[in-house]
Amino acid sequence: MSEAGDPQNTRVLVTGGAGFIGSHTVVELLQDGYQVVIVDDLSNASEKVIGRIKAIVGDAAAANLTFYRSDVNDREAMNAVFDKNRIDRVIHFAGFKAVGESVGKPIEYYANNLGNTLTLVDVMRRHGCKDIIFSSSATVYGDPDALPLTEESPKKPATNPYGWTKWMIEQVLTDLHTADPEWNVVLLRYFNPIGAHPSGLMGEDPKGIPNNLLPYVAQVAVGKRECVHVFGDDYDTPDGTGVRDYVHVCDLASGHAAALKWMNGRTGVEIFNLGTGKGTSVLEIIKAFSRACGKDIPYQIDPRRAGDVTANYADCSKAKREMGWEAKFDIDDMCRDSWNWQSNNPNGYEG
Ligand code: UFG
Repeated sequence: MSEAGDPQNTRVLVTGGAGFIGSHTVVELLQDGYQVVIVDDLSNASEKVIGRIKAIVGDAAAANLTFYRSDVNDREAMNAVFDKNRIDRVIHFAGFKAVGESVGKPIEYYANNLGNTLTLVDVMRRHGCKDIIFSSSATVYGDPDALPLTEESPKKPATNPYGWTKWMIEQVLTDLHTADPEWNVVLLRYFNPIGAHPSGLMGEDPKGIPNNLLPYVAQVAVGKRECVHVFGDDYDTPDGTGVRDYVHVCDLASGHAAALKWMNGRTGVEIFNLGTGKGTSVLEIIKAFSRACGKDIPYQIDPRRAGDVTANYADCSKAKREMGWEAKFDIDDMCRDSWNWQSNNPNGYEG
């Protein structure tokens, strides 16, 4: 259990800190006064993110940021990071995240996501650091029996290797705490993260054809793709399309900052849902994005996508009650910021 608390005296290692959620979280932490160390191998992120983070937070806070380009599964490199920097807490984002890709590459997904977590926690314990926040996912709830989903809702078998890695890493960290009760583990289950930094300097930058709805819609809006493929309109939902709990990435970032404060002086394993508590359909997203960008977004109805659930949305009352956190941004804010990012950076960070 770390007694770290005062941000100025707390150094947080953020694995995957150059990625979509990681980069927004790093901005939030630097703005709160934390010392931040990013470890990211840039396998699915751009080095330009580091400059953008610094531009957003300004010189004084940027001086508190250190970046290492390294694979979290590289034990020697991780030992060196911990030897050089007294790390108080870890936020672990690094991992492969493409659901569809994971089906064809199970070995890569298990090796990377599970392997890097095992290396990370081993290096942590050898350096006396036992405080970790893990980037989990609502995917662990599978096809829900009842909505909204609370942290007590049962975990269900995953439908793909990516989902299993989230499921299993939650278990690994829980077992770790059973074996050594000094561990302080927070599992944050994100619903559907979208949006971008309001500055337009950071956002989601998927490589190739986007798997997720929002980046796809944004690329249609900017003219890079012809039309949105709506995966099924025969679900048991008000308009027949899938319903999800979309949450602004900046709200997720502040959720991590809230968790860092909340975990001060604690030990245990605690789970928090991070969402808005509201469900939005695919067609509602397309409409909201049309409003944000001021033009119609063409779409066509396609068959359902294998493995998709009908609807999920969160009960986030625990995060509010325990950590004082709740989402502030609504769907229109998320689409506005996403459009601002996409229209200013039509080719993402490489544009
Ligand atoms: N959808 C489309 N067209 C697209 C992409 C998606 O109609 O081109 C629909 C899907 O069918 C679904 C909704 O839009 O109804 C959202 O799909 P996403 O792919 O954006 O997100 P998912 O809910 O499938 O998955 C997301 C994350 C996963 C995470 C999961 C947790 O991508 O990492 O939420 O529930 F595991």
